[in-house]
Amino acid sequence: MAGEGVLRPGFVEIYVLDIEAAITHYVDYLGLDMVGTEADGRVYLKGYDEFDHHSIILHPADHAGVARVGFKVSSEAALKAYEGRILEFGAAVDHIPAGEQPGLGRRISFIIPSGHRIELYAEAAIAEHHPPTKNPGLWHVEPHGMRAMRFDHVLLYGPEIPEVLRFFTTVLDFKLSEQVVAPDGPVAIFLTTSNKAHDIAFVSHPEPAKFHHASFLLEDWSDVGRAADLMTHYDIPLDIGPTRHGITRGKTIYFFDPSGNRNEVFAGDYTFYPDTPVRTWDAEKIGKAIFYYDRALNERFLSVVT
Ligand SMILES: [Fe+2]
Repeated sequence: MAGEGVLRPGFVEIYVLDIEAAITHYVDYLGLDMVGTEADGRVYLKGYDEFDHHSIILHPADHAGVARVGFKVSSEAALKAYEGRILEFGAAVDHIPAGEQPGLGRRISFIIPSGHRIELYAEAAIAEHHPPTKNPGLWHVEPHGMRAMRFDHVLLYGPEIPEVLRFFTTVLDFKLSEQVVAPDGPVAIFLTTSNKAHDIAFVSHPEPAKFHHASFLLEDWSDVGRAADLMTHYDIPLDIGPTRHGITRGKTIYFFDPSGNRNEVFAGDYTFYPDTPVRTWDAEKIGKAIFYYDRALNERFLSVVT
């Protein structure tokens, strides 16, 4: 829970086809700050309200999708303890040296049963342009674009959802906050390691390692509306919204980056405490669960992943 163990989602590394188009999308439109470009072509970004060195990596590739999702843990001791538990679960652990991503300490890296690569690390340099801390104003520089405050969570698609649930809850100490259940088991799970309604989520899908969306927090519902105005202004491909989720209660818009990766901007969710009961939706109510106002899924939600 908050303060020890796995602290929060730290970064997501996204494959993009055209790096210049991706920078225009994520920096100029979404409103993230450029941290730097490394010699290998990877571009590092962060939200204006984040303290750590970076939270988004744009990775030039010949395909879209997600390369890896990193979670920051509370200490080196926690990192060592989680490594033992991951090995005990039966997953192999790779070691990535400090500095492989600028500003980050050593990482451990492993594949979960849905096929996704997840990483843990304990050390991150504080960003040069972090939120003010002394008699703090709201920001150093006025936020721009959609004014994304921070990277918040990812939704991933893949098989073996019950095993993913077992991994996150028994190995990484996450809590299940919400789920969609069919007669033969869970088809969607929402997991938290904090007071947020979710820090990562999974939907059952036959193909492993698929990417549904990366989500960015906005300050409030009026900023969600302003983001919709910018999407029309810049002709950004829209998936759905503005609308609201039943699950997590977030007010949301889904849209696509120039490579076809789905993004979300949202504001508002419920507070999760360690003793909050699991909220469960029947699979036949999934329309209302996912899109609370529309009360029906759009076809793209289930079929378009990268
Ligand atoms: Fe989301």
